[in-house]
Amino acid sequence: MPNRNTNTALSLFDDSLPQQQEFLADVLEGLAQPRKTLPCKYFYDERGSQLFEAICETPEYYITRTELGILTQNMEHIANLVGPGCDILEFGSGAGIKIRLLLDGLHDPRSYIPIDISREILESSARTLLEQFPQVQVIPIVGDYHKDIQLPAAFRAQSAHRKLVFFPGSTISNFTPEEAEAFLQRIRALLCEGDGLLIGVDCIKPTHILNAAYNDLAGFTAAFNLNLLQRVEDSFNTNLKTKHFFHHAYFNEAESRIEMHLVSKLDQLIEIEGRHFKFRKGETIHTENSYKYSLEGFGALAQRTGFEISAVWQDPEKLFSLQYLSAR
Ligand SMILES: C[S@@+](CC[C@H](N)C(=O)[O-])C[C@H]1O[C@@H](n2cnc3c(N)ncnc32)[C@H](O)[C@@H]1O
Repeated sequence: MPNRNTNTALSLFDDSLPQQQEFLADVLEGLAQPRKTLPCKYFYDERGSQLFEAICETPEYYITRTELGILTQNMEHIANLVGPGCDILEFGSGAGIKIRLLLDGLHDPRSYIPIDISREILESSARTLLEQFPQVQVIPIVGDYHKDIQLPAAFRAQSAHRKLVFFPGSTISNFTPEEAEAFLQRIRALLCEGDGLLIGVDCIKPTHILNAAYNDLAGFTAAFNLNLLQRVEDSFNTNLKTKHFFHHAYFNEAESRIEMHLVSKLDQLIEIEGRHFKFRKGETIHTENSYKYSLEGFGALAQRTGFEISAVWQDPEKLFSLQYLSAR
């Protein structure tokens, strides 16, 4: 096998990472809304990424172990659909656990481009992959996937090799259905006819399973949610106290989504860099959504965005789906 990582030192390509000014502008804008909100992309500083990894290990958070099981069970079928010698791009690659199964199971993948907003986790996972898969060229990009990211040559539209976008973990669930549609269109634009998108999509299921998954007894999800406020407290000139808020997550059936909120424990006036925000006791900051899809609902979304569904795999309990969409 050729060693495609001729330069063994890791180069991290920086692209469009939100800077402190942008973080502040987003915080001020979110808290000025009639229903206060903060963007979920700011969960993932170093501590946030570590907390997310801890969430994945909890008994209540079925998503990670279920998707890993589906990937393992169906790897041969996936490898045959993707074909030999592909270039892979992953959005929100995180700790890079799932990609290891793909790099092991696909037929001679050529390159892997992980994109993540969290520099530390991207750097450490890319280092591990470089060691474990010397035959695959690893090109990590630290950046915000909501923005236009300059992609390496392997992933430009005119490439002669099969391209595969990997988007696991149901990260697509953090987008509203309108945003999800626009994002799938963006992915489609990166692909040529016959290229693939392997995407993890969480399914509608009984409410008690969903509520438990986002309220683990060990408290990692609560700590993850509160860490966003801690980041604000640590980054700016503010009287905000994270301890004056608590975590609240529940399934909103009408919207088919888990909502995560931070609830104010008291009436308070918070100042951030000279701007003031009034909170009533019980008022919340909406921090994240996680939409749950029926197979038909997601299928329709895929169809509308230029994909054809080639395969859908589920676990026996039908908690989660992994779907292979081919660019039409
Ligand atoms: C729900 S986790 C999923 C991680 C991993 N793909 C998995 O399946 O377990 C979301 C990942 O996306 C990254 N992320 C979140 N928002 C992002 C953004 N706007 N741009 C790039 N990466 C982002 C986070 O740092 C995190 O690694």
